[in-house]
Amino acid sequence: MKTLVVYESLWGNTAAIARSIAQGIGPGARAMSTAEATNELVEEADFLVAGAPVFAFHLSSDRARQDIAAHPDPGAPPPDLSHPSLRDWLDALTPGSVPCAAFDTEVRGPFGKGAPAIAEALQEKGYRLVDEPQGFIVSGKHGPLRDGERERAVHWGEHLRQCVEQAPERAR
Ligand SMILES: Cc1cc2nc3c(=O)[nH]c(=O)nc-3n(C[C@H](O)[C@H](O)[C@H](O)COP(=O)(O)O)c2cc1C
Repeated sequence: MKTLVVYESLWGNTAAIARSIAQGIGPGARAMSTAEATNELVEEADFLVAGAPVFAFHLSSDRARQDIAAHPDPGAPPPDLSHPSLRDWLDALTPGSVPCAAFDTEVRGPFGKGAPAIAEALQEKGYRLVDEPQGFIVSGKHGPLRDGERERAVHWGEHLRQCVEQAPERAR
């Protein structure tokens, strides 16, 4: 199943979850940043998964990224801002109809949600959500991922594969 797991990731946590999800989905699944995931690649995919960090209670935004760049936390590794925000990537995404799924990374709990906003944006473009949006937990402001989250992401990837295979209407 040709799958793109697209991510925005400033410190590598969301990228690591994306790679684990791709591993769980299995052969044909590739994790790639918003810079690498062109609309041409999306149009060739059977399944689209997208994820980003939660910053300031919301899906990451240019403003949040500018603030992070302008006011780096002392001792924090430098953020990777080499690829666009997922929000910008979603704005530029070509409409489609293949199955999709959404995830975020976050500190934990009721501090705002990114994954539901990603799911909504994908659905507005015509993509068909196959499972509830998922949040994966980091144990500090910049990571690392909480123990067990990579494994949970692999299992979610396996589950997503089943969801797509069992979906009544395969787009391709
Ligand atoms: C400036 C800043 C604001 C953040 N705001 C939130 C927040 O509102 N809610 C939350 O759960 N996590 C928040 N976090 C934690 C991020 O979600 C965490 O850094 C993210 O998972 C890192 O993913 P990445 O390594 O892929 O960039 C914040 C982190 C930073 C640096």
